[in-house]
Amino acid sequence: MKNIRKKVLLSVMLTLMTVTSQAQNIPVYLDPNQPIEARVKDALSKMTLEEKVALCTAQSKFSSHGVPRLGIPELWMSDGSHGVREEISWDSWTPAGWTNDACTGFPALSCLAATWNPKMAALYGKSIGEEFRYRHKDIMLGPGINIYRTPLNGRNYEYMGEDPYLTSQLVVQYIQNVQNNGVAVCVKHYLLNNQETWRDSVDVQISDRALHEIYLPAWKAAVEKGHAWSIMGSYNKIRGEHGCESQLTLNKILKTDWGFDGAVVSDWGGAHSTMASALGGLDIEMGTWTNGMDKGKTFAYDDYYLGRNYLKALKEGSIPMSNINDKASRILRLIFRTAMNTNRSYGSFGSQEHLNAAREIADEGIVLLKNDNKKRLLPIEAKRYKNILVIGENAIKQLTSGGGAAGLKVSKEISPLSALQTKYGEAIHYTMGYASGPTTYGHVAPSPYSADSLRDEAVKEAQKADLIIYIGGLNKNFRQDCESGDRESLNLPFKQDQLIEALSKVNKNIILTLLSGNAMAMPWKEKIPAIIQGWYLGSEAGNSLVDILSGDVNPSGKLPFTFPVKLADVGAHSFDAESYPGVNYKEIYKEDIFVGYRWNDSKNITALFPFGYGLSYTTFKYGKATFAKNTLTQNGEFKISIPITNTGKIKGKEVVQLYIGEENPSVPRPRKELKGFNKIELAPGETTNITFKITPDMLSFYDDAQQTWRNEPGKFKAYIGSSSTDIKSTIELTFK
Ligand code: BGC
Repeated sequence: MKNIRKKVLLSVMLTLMTVTSQAQNIPVYLDPNQPIEARVKDALSKMTLEEKVALCTAQSKFSSHGVPRLGIPELWMSDGSHGVREEISWDSWTPAGWTNDACTGFPALSCLAATWNPKMAALYGKSIGEEFRYRHKDIMLGPGINIYRTPLNGRNYEYMGEDPYLTSQLVVQYIQNVQNNGVAVCVKHYLLNNQETWRDSVDVQISDRALHEIYLPAWKAAVEKGHAWSIMGSYNKIRGEHGCESQLTLNKILKTDWGFDGAVVSDWGGAHSTMASALGGLDIEMGTWTNGMDKGKTFAYDDYYLGRNYLKALKEGSIPMSNINDKASRILRLIFRTAMNTNRSYGSFGSQEHLNAAREIADEGIVLLKNDNKKRLLPIEAKRYKNILVIGENAIKQLTSGGGAAGLKVSKEISPLSALQTKYGEAIHYTMGYASGPTTYGHVAPSPYSADSLRDEAVKEAQKADLIIYIGGLNKNFRQDCESGDRESLNLPFKQDQLIEALSKVNKNIILTLLSGNAMAMPWKEKIPAIIQGWYLGSEAGNSLVDILSGDVNPSGKLPFTFPVKLADVGAHSFDAESYPGVNYKEIYKEDIFVGYRWNDSKNITALFPFGYGLSYTTFKYGKATFAKNTLTQNGEFKISIPITNTGKIKGKEVVQLYIGEENPSVPRPRKELKGFNKIELAPGETTNITFKITPDMLSFYDDAQQTWRNEPGKFKAYIGSSSTDIKSTIELTFK
């Protein structure tokens, strides 16, 4: 009764408001009570051609035009994914020098992926969305969801790993929770920007199956389930067309097949011609190549491909008016959803709540790779040690900055060393052990220190220590985990392999923590008793690492990509240079659909650490999977259940994974593919039943002859396990 009364009251109020707005003659496009489509139509009908075209280009480094005459505001954007980038100057890349724009640094997206927890993706999206909103941004340039094809890709840390299903599950939550704040995501970089070498020009040749089975699903989920309001076109070419001008990926797949109703924004400088970008599906052209001021007269934003020349082509009739009306409608829709959204909250910035969220996500993403049973160095029993030696530059290096567009100016970053000192006090000593050069973009700056003397010093100190906590890995310098260049090798940089070998000879009590967004080779793996993969963890980095090292938090992260033993074990690197990085800017994805663990499975290659792998301080026992039936028909479904028990002494979280594979497929198919997962928390001794629903779409493949997803009758296997290689229970099923 109460609810009905409330509803009646609300509808009376709404009617009154509409009457008032009509009485005051508010145009439809300005009336927030009108449906967005009506507002778009109304605004469009009032705009001149020049005003419509103006919407399609940048007006500064990070904003695009509104319609000042009609009171329609511009769109403000900022780089994102891991935090709101510092304010950049109007017309140049120089930081604007604000003192109130230091944000909360959230863990890198590779860490979010390692949580295998959609709830963490939702928390991440909500928190970062609030920060963007507070900073008056309408569009967050992120999240990045390019698939991890090679461990050399400099931007893997900005993405969510090698599996389309895992990425899809996380990105949907992330998007919805950012956009709840009235801030649009701009999911990037669509499509196939899977390497930084020649990122502007490499022309990717790829099969339809690899496109649809590996590289497109996360985008489809972002559009159809996440309802992303904007998408960023990539720099690279796809079958001869640039990502921002692609008939195939933009017009056909994104806009026609998936019904995307938002705007396509170019990567900065990603458009290359007026005709190709206007007709190829680009809506907003952003860029790098003008400063708009001193070069402004000859080289201003108006000279962009979707500027003056686009207007001319429309006036001459070489591009139809329907083209600009479509673009302007999409951009207006984006403006009404964000900049003119009167329902948005005010957001919040740099709050304790956001720091807590960053820490919680980091805690769940850190992956315990090895914890030798005999030594059991982890979790650290503090009372056993008087002299704990911390070694490694990453114990003190700021890792929220650097890396390119995702580099952050943060209000706070707790280094591993300072968190360890807080936790263990005077037992902690430090020596750097190795050093990189300063964090630079576009070139490698050498280290001013001698690698030999740093190593000698570390080895000397290591002899006196009871425990060594090594904190190394990659960093966000150029040619490491950084935009615009790929890594040079799978090995650790800055002579760390030699350092670790030398340390292992003088002290066996080593806990090795690697911070990176990529897999690294570990030639010394057998000599090191405890290994942790720690990612770039954001503002609370040190605290999160100590949460895991000390056992205050039980590790529960799982790898979102395969760690290969050597580069040649990776699909993309198993062929010649045509497959990576390409020859004469042409690259053929020869491994096809066999990316990541799919490649390992098909070639029987043992990974250093497999996809989905991660240890805990407790143990879990999987029972036998049960099912009511095991025959599936079109439109049918059935359920598999499996009991999981925490057999250890402390509570812990486990990610239960479901993979499915066809036994004798008519086309080459991966042995198994991830089709479900569930992260659960169990108290010691507790058992729970996990149930997965199996439906025909989980068995289908993309039929390139028929250009559609298809099911074929046959025998399948469902594998339930704790990683892609640690399968605990298998059931056979038939599809009829
Ligand atoms: C990057 C994008 C970024 C843009 C704006 C480009 O170089 O590839 O990810 O959003 O710059 O900073």
